[in-house]
Amino acid sequence: MVIGLLVIAGIPTTIGVCEALSAQKKADAAAKEKAKFFLTTTVSLDGEEPVECFCVLKGGKLWIDHPAYPMPGHKFLGWYFTYPSEAQHLGMVSTIQDDPPALNWIFVDKDSNMVRHGGRQDTLGGHTIGPWNWSSDEQWLTLEGDAARFVAVEQENRKWAVAWDRDGSIRNGGCDDEDEGGDGDEDESHQPRKRAPIMLHRRMQLGMESRYVKGQGAG
Ligand SMILES: *[C@@H]1O[C@H](CO)[C@@H](O)[C@H](O)[C@H]1NC(C)=O
Repeated sequence: MVIGLLVIAGIPTTIGVCEALSAQKKADAAAKEKAKFFLTTTVSLDGEEPVECFCVLKGGKLWIDHPAYPMPGHKFLGWYFTYPSEAQHLGMVSTIQDDPPALNWIFVDKDSNMVRHGGRQDTLGGHTIGPWNWSSDEQWLTLEGDAARFVAVEQENRKWAVAWDRDGSIRNGGCDDEDEGGDGDEDESHQPRKRAPIMLHRRMQLGMESRYVKGQGAG
């Protein structure tokens, strides 16, 4: 009789613990989505040692503020946000200015494959709005589950902007090699734009990464 009672009493407790764990997991996931992060990339664009550069937003694009190719802009400071559509994909927003505070969606242009920022209206029409996410070690930004498809592409102003290699054509040079076929009207210099594969590092705003906290104290 005593044993029976213990068993019966044990069932709801077990369910309670599981529910609590699952609620905790959901809360953790929600907190992770809302945690703000800067984006950096460690890259060599000038043949020198790779350096960690912040990504900045300006004029609708995401740029790499590299010491050799400085790009003044608003430092990306973003987080995840469910994009309002049927798919309920995880979208991503970033501040674009501090005063007054304003946010933009981050998305990939369906034609140019450039990572862009804009209002919801700008995201309509088949652009890629997500799903954005983080790699399993939480270090890297992913789009469609892949952290390794971002590319730095040199722009007309000789600065570097971030593109997304939708189908591998950017890294393989497929796009710009069309110019070799003859007309070459689109690019008067006849030079394929320089490009470099990059990964985008999520540098947490609140110093939650121990490797950034370490060594800062006097101890
Ligand atoms: C985001 O990525 C994490 C780990 O990489 C995964 O556990 C989670 O299910 C992903 N979330 C979404 C909404 O895809």
